[in-house]
Amino acid sequence: MKKILVTGAFGQIGSELVPALQQKFGQDNVIAMAHRNVPQAFKGIVEVGEVTDKKGMEKLIKKYKIDTIYHLASLLSATGEANPQLAWEVNMNGLKNVLDLAVAHKMRVFWPSSIAAFGPTTPREMTPQRTVLEPTTMYGVTKLAGELLCQYYTKKYGLDIRSVRYPGLISYQAEPGGGTTDFAVAIFYEAIKSGKYECFVNKDTMLPMMYMDDAIEGTLKLMDAPWDKLTIHTSYNFAAISFTAEELAREINKRIKVKVTYKPDHRQQIADSWPRSIDDSVARKDWGWKHKFDLGKMCDVMIKNLTIKLQK
Ligand code: SER
Repeated sequence: MKKILVTGAFGQIGSELVPALQQKFGQDNVIAMAHRNVPQAFKGIVEVGEVTDKKGMEKLIKKYKIDTIYHLASLLSATGEANPQLAWEVNMNGLKNVLDLAVAHKMRVFWPSSIAAFGPTTPREMTPQRTVLEPTTMYGVTKLAGELLCQYYTKKYGLDIRSVRYPGLISYQAEPGGGTTDFAVAIFYEAIKSGKYECFVNKDTMLPMMYMDDAIEGTLKLMDAPWDKLTIHTSYNFAAISFTAEELAREINKRIKVKVTYKPDHRQQIADSWPRSIDDSVARKDWGWKHKFDLGKMCDVMIKNLTIKLQK
């Protein structure tokens, strides 16, 4: 039976990946590692720990005989710019600790990269799998270095490490927190709460995005794929939909009224350094990736579920 450790278990992805893993492998086989408050409603095994504490993590790995680790703990792009030292410490040293422990304890690893691994010199439309990678945020630097480190450990130590470059993820469960793509989540909250939203990027800003259910399904699918089918050991381009801030506002307005004003801040520059759309044909070919949620379907589920959540 698989024994899984998830770091960053209550972050943006973990909040939804942990329940999905519990459902697939059993609640007793998923250990959620948190470094901060655990949501009261959480049901399952929780351990408090830091990814920068290698010894502490090793204790957990031995205690539960962990064979697979989903290493999600990370600072996102905007938070990383506010504290680049901490971003390096958590994102880089945390990953290096996990990879070294994976070698020592023969664990499989899932680790998320991001569209932030690209930069302003990358072709921005249908960005190819293999292209120029010159990120300009600390977050992006740690993602690019992390991808190369994963590939290095795969080749050098024969580890089974799998990774995708997540686009902006949209979900009604985890609150927006420190990402540049978070405007596409925050707009739903404000539309429902107050009917108006001040957007921190301009209306023409287009970024690759994905509804969280697709992201979780794709992640599990990649982890189930036969190893010999995988041709990418840095990180797979992984995409679903692209839209501008204005297109999103228009789509929401077909359902509920929201008055959006645009006041770009420092995050505009980060958004402008990332691709507008992604070519993920290699993921589609290698392990059968396919998304289900288009813009309209995503707006339907976001508004429906967030309305219920905000009424509680
Ligand atoms: N959603 C992330 C961010 O905006 C990108 O990976 O920081």
